[in-house]
Amino acid sequence: MKKVLRILGLLLAGVVFLGACAATFVQVRGIPSYDKPQMAAQKIVATPTRIAHGQKIVNAMCVDCHRNPATGALSGKQLTELPPEFGKLYAANITQDQQHGIGRWTDEELVALLRTGIGRDGRYRVVMPNFRHMSDEDVASVIAYLHSTDRQVQPDPTPTHEQEPSFLAKALTNTVMKPLPMPDGAVVAPAPTDAVAYGRYLVVGRYKCYDCHSQDHQTNNHLEPEKSAGYLGGGIDFVTTDGSLIKSRNLTMDAETGLGDWTEAQFVQAVRYGQSPHGPLRTPMPKFTLMDETEARAIYAYLRTVPVLRNATPEDGAAAVATR
Ligand code: HEC
Ligand code: HEC
Repeated sequence: MKKVLRILGLLLAGVVFLGACAATFVQVRGIPSYDKPQMAAQKIVATPTRIAHGQKIVNAMCVDCHRNPATGALSGKQLTELPPEFGKLYAANITQDQQHGIGRWTDEELVALLRTGIGRDGRYRVVMPNFRHMSDEDVASVIAYLHSTDRQVQPDPTPTHEQEPSFLAKALTNTVMKPLPMPDGAVVAPAPTDAVAYGRYLVVGRYKCYDCHSQDHQTNNHLEPEKSAGYLGGGIDFVTTDGSLIKSRNLTMDAETGLGDWTEAQFVQAVRYGQSPHGPLRTPMPKFTLMDETEARAIYAYLRTVPVLRNATPEDGAAAVATR
């Protein structure tokens, strides 16, 4: 008996020791770096169509994190909507400034970052969403806009704040949160006339609704978005502007806890103007003011084909929560 206990004790000590080693490793290693994707040089041609389209995507998908509210420039800010357990994280300066912005990044370095999350120095840009399923044309438009003469991307010498990730954030980037491989071939968006396919593209590729509207950032599957746990059923915690904790909502067609009892017009109104039947939608739900009617309707058509999930959030009221 004594011997067994002694062996168990030694084993336990071993486990504790290994755990401590792993913790030290994570703490010292911090957020890891990777080899930069090998890419041929490319020069994105900035046509007026691309710049206008890029402006629409950037205003929906990038400004909430990258825009300094005091100056209106995309010079970065602290991401206060993330729950505090991730530490203090800051979006970078992405204006054209040579030293503090992206003035020296080549087009292929920008493509690599948007697709994989790996920066030109190899460091993994944690929290910066990856746009693996965005079409090549949309990515080119985003980059054309970042290089445009629009006011919010002009050089601004504000240095990017150094990241202060928590131990949890570092541990996650050493385990589950990883850069993605480059897409295998060309990424082409379906035609808007095929509403369901186009809607799926908007939800997974251009606007990444699934990223916020599934169960948990940690179980989202960015290679195959539909395999994310609780796909589009909502439930991720965010901190809204007044500091209160809110959850993303269920976008599947469940009548009580999702959008099953909404009309298409109510949906379009909520997404384009931030007005839901319950009232104004709070941050970090993006403002999709430049989204056109065809896009909003295509998303609705696609959502009607997504497997229905029952997932109540406090706004659904006590009855829906109780019957869960
Ligand atoms: C959820 C917040 C968030 C969103 C949305 C977001 N970013 Fe970022 N972005 C970040 C963070 C955080 C970093 C990394 C800062 C770091 O680690 O130094 C970053 C880094 C970058 C960088 C690298 C700059 C550098 O010097 O490291 C570029 C370029 C960039 N983002 C462009 C974009 C574009 C374009 C979009 C929209 C298509 C976008 N981001 C959307 C948070 C975000
Ligand atoms: C950055 C995270 C984020 C992204 C990206 C995002 N949402 Fe949201 N969304 C939220 C949050 C958080 C709420 C809850 C807001 C509230 O309770 O006021 C919300 C609420 C909604 C609602 C209201 C639902 C209800 O029951 O009231 C709709 C509809 C919606 N989002 C649709 C979309 C669509 C469509 C997209 C993609 C085009 C999208 N969202 C992208 C975070 C996000």
